[in-house]
Amino acid sequence: MMNILSPSILSADFSKLGEQIKEADQAGAQYIHIDVMDGMFVPSISYGMPVIKSVRGVTSKTFDVHLMIMDPIRYVKDFVDSGADIITFHLEAAQDPKAVIDEIHKYGKKAGISIKPGTDASALDEYLDMVDMILVMTVEPGFGGQKLIPECAHKVRTVRGMLEAKKLKTDIEVDGGIYVENVSQLLEAGANVIVSGSGVFKGDIQYNVKRFLDILGN
Ligand code: DX5
Ligand code: ZN
Repeated sequence: MMNILSPSILSADFSKLGEQIKEADQAGAQYIHIDVMDGMFVPSISYGMPVIKSVRGVTSKTFDVHLMIMDPIRYVKDFVDSGADIITFHLEAAQDPKAVIDEIHKYGKKAGISIKPGTDASALDEYLDMVDMILVMTVEPGFGGQKLIPECAHKVRTVRGMLEAKKLKTDIEVDGGIYVENVSQLLEAGANVIVSGSGVFKGDIQYNVKRFLDILGN
């Protein structure tokens, strides 16, 4: 299973967003993680379709869009049209998660489902064979720069076990508080798509990406 780095642009300098995405791209990051917040599902508001559209032209890397919004089915088409390749929504925010997955697949995009730290892994069970990726949050969603909640590594292990029991090789993404210093425990637990915001965009972007990729070691 391929390990992937998905730098979260939430920690980028938005006055140079295009250039910073290019730096992450050139250093070898495979995905670009784009956090969309609605001020309802999470307290903060980040950015939406126009921003995604405007940076779609600067890279051909996979746009990994993480929707932290209520009732995400309403906006699937808009994010597809903006250039999303993977659309991940929160189980807690959807009235009918299967309908959201079907809507994403209808447009030929990859569907991810996410759970917050307080949601039990078992809540994912009925969706495991429908999705392309599972996002296990390692902080409370809403802000960059938080500290990783250590128990979340255990949840990753549980989800990997649930997938293996069904003979599924689905990607597991982890997001929040991840740095080169603590990423190994998540890889060992079974995660293979690594999001990092502060760990990539604070400081030397190219250097940070390369250090992560050394550890991810494909
Ligand atoms: C948090 C977002 C994360 C965030 C990660 O709600 O989903 O993607 O940008 O940032 P760091 O790596 O700084 O915790
Ligand atoms: Zn995210």
